Amino acid sequence: MNIQLLNQNISDAKTDISLEYLTADQLKKSKNKKALKLAGFKANQDSICFLHNKNTLVCGVDSHTADDVRSVSAVAIKALKNTEYKSANIAIEDKTLIPALVEGFVLGGYSYEVYKTTKSKPKLKDISLIYTKDDYKSAIKVFSDAVIVADATCFTRDIVNTIPEDLNPVTFAKLAKKLAKENGLGCKILDEKALAKENCTSMLAVGRASRHESQLIHLSYKPKNAKKKVNLIGKGLTYDSGGLSLKPGASMVTMKMDKAGACAVLGIIKAASEMKLDVEINAFIGAVENMIGGDAYKPDDVLVSRNGKTIEVRNTDAEGRLVLADVLDYAQDKVKADYMFDFATLTGACMVAVGQYTTGVMGHSSKLKHSVGKASANAGELTASLPFNKHLKKQIKSEIADICNISNKPYGGAITAGLFLDAFIKEENKDKWLHFDIAGSAYTESPWDVNVYGGTGAGVRFMSEFLKSL
Ligand code: BES
Ligand code: ZN
Ligand code: ZN
Repeated sequence: MNIQLLNQNISDAKTDISLEYLTADQLKKSKNKKALKLAGFKANQDSICFLHNKNTLVCGVDSHTADDVRSVSAVAIKALKNTEYKSANIAIEDKTLIPALVEGFVLGGYSYEVYKTTKSKPKLKDISLIYTKDDYKSAIKVFSDAVIVADATCFTRDIVNTIPEDLNPVTFAKLAKKLAKENGLGCKILDEKALAKENCTSMLAVGRASRHESQLIHLSYKPKNAKKKVNLIGKGLTYDSGGLSLKPGASMVTMKMDKAGACAVLGIIKAASEMKLDVEINAFIGAVENMIGGDAYKPDDVLVSRNGKTIEVRNTDAEGRLVLADVLDYAQDKVKADYMFDFATLTGACMVAVGQYTTGVMGHSSKLKHSVGKASANAGELTASLPFNKHLKKQIKSEIADICNISNKPYGGAITAGLFLDAFIKEENKDKWLHFDIAGSAYTESPWDVNVYGGTGAGVRFMSEFLKSL
């Protein structure tokens, strides 16, 4: 499907069908009021009605705000994909709604069919946004950035949706290399030998029982006049069986998505480089598979992490933090950045705390959390801050080592996981760092908003928005 922005009169535009967005109030004054009433259309948010003899698809919105427009656009595109229409258009006067339309159409129209022998072949080929105002030049910039970010989100979804047999730590590194080549990024990959030299013992322990070698992937985007430096760190568990603390069968299904943090980080650096942002970005990914076997790391082990801290392992399913401990330390050593963000499907507890739709945000700087909150509101992603406190910090104390990889109490698990990561953040970086728990937001088995079954690409939109704001 091709999406384009055109600057012309709507009456001059050739199309099979036109989309029209109406509120209930506007419906009362619509020239198609009678036909729509007959069809039972009330302009409720996310309801749609085809008027085939008028070549019009009418879409209901509560308001003409980005959130409502984005949501109904996803509904509209799904319906259009099942019709015989080859082209569709929509007239817009307000350029601030361009990103929402692009996101709704591109993300709502996404489907992942790699493993289907018969692929769907939608007839719809072209969607045109007809911009009727004069400042086309600034609108086209808004449009092209929105397309880059939406495409990067789909790129992230594609990787998340790839099965663990096809996407393991080694093939992940290959994929990162390919992206680096295509987008002119720097790329350094550490295999297990190199990881041992770097003392990434904690990360190596998690991947030890896998037949695939763990990989630390470092991609860099270095524009000439970079105003800021940002480090992005991603949890890349290409599969999380839980290890010897094996997950119950039902919880293991979907654990191919445990690499979603790493996939988001790839999507973000892809988008930033294509938008040519004046921000240096270094992306660090810990790609590891958590499996069982005679060589597996175990509950009762004590690991020595890269920064020298010892970690008591009491549960091998709390593996993401063990990988991130080393990758965070490596990233801080290699690049002194202005900001440092990690993305991880870290805890089921985060979903309990904030629901499946929201990314949990943790860190020390209220100011930075506020900026990210603003970026996510603009980008149409949901985030919520989960506050650290000194009492929860005590829950990850160990009797035998410096820190324990699980909490000794059943509550506050998302925050105690965040506090575990905090133990590996250097003093000078405390206020530069935020942790994003995307356990709920990264994957879905039922559609919501612009998300369809599978990976959602959580993190790509709000971080791209934040980077643009720098
Ligand atoms: N990858 C999981 C977290 C997860 C759960 C992500 C469900 C997405 C959906 C993580 O490695 C894990 O298993 N965490 C444990 C931690 C516990 C052992 C302290 C969890 O959440 O149960
Ligand atoms: Zn786990
Ligand atoms: Zn995990």
